[in-house]
Amino acid sequence: MPSISLGGRSYFYEEAGSGTPLLLLHGFPFDSRSYAPQLAKPPSGFRLIVPDHRGFGRSEFVPGVATMDDLAEDALALLDALQISAAVVGGVSMGGYVAIALTRLDPGRVSGLLLIDTQSTPDDDAGKQRRETVAQDAEKNGVDGVVKALLPKLVLPTSPALPALEAMMREQNPLAVAAASRGMAARIDGKDILSRYSGPCRIIFGEQDSIMPLEKAKQMQSLIQGSTLHVIPGAAHLPNLEQPELFAEVLAS
Ligand code: MLT
Repeated sequence: MPSISLGGRSYFYEEAGSGTPLLLLHGFPFDSRSYAPQLAKPPSGFRLIVPDHRGFGRSEFVPGVATMDDLAEDALALLDALQISAAVVGGVSMGGYVAIALTRLDPGRVSGLLLIDTQSTPDDDAGKQRRETVAQDAEKNGVDGVVKALLPKLVLPTSPALPALEAMMREQNPLAVAAASRGMAARIDGKDILSRYSGPCRIIFGEQDSIMPLEKAKQMQSLIQGSTLHVIPGAAHLPNLEQPELFAEVLAS
């Protein structure tokens, strides 16, 4: 797995395929392996680039809150290091928050947007409080609490992806989990960013996602002119893992 140095700190990423750069950003609390089916079979005509966010997977942890802007700046630095001027930028859930932040920070680098089971709305006060509880629990007790709370909602119970997903979640650094939970709580409203965005956009949602109900997808679709919504049957929150073939069809279409 290659890496770059960001001010002396290692930042790892996976790469596969060739063609138009496609930066895919992972959700919480995963790492680049959550895009394993896409890395194994990259969409034709795309150079897939999938980093581990700071503290996740093999990328080095940075103390403090990991804001969505921080994660977006790391990803932009990776594009710089790879001498990529613009990429299609996509993300699942928290990865979508980072994709929206990146679009605000450097819109010229975004040649297309792929928003997967994510949302443009920020957390309300109760949501922020829940994030803080998750952060404190992770710091005190490790990742078990977040794994138990999230896993049943991430993929359908029959999904063959479930055991590997759980193992990946259990490998994450609890401090990175806490830092990202607080970072998600601090994220700003993305609606203005999406309504200003004028490039191509696909919104992909699992039909049975209970974390991000379809309403969230429709809201983003109404904000982005010309965007298309693709609902994947037989999938919950992680359609790229649960239905990789159907997911690939959307990317290829
Ligand atoms: C994720 O999958 O990244 C999280 O469910 C996002 C969130 O908690 O808002």
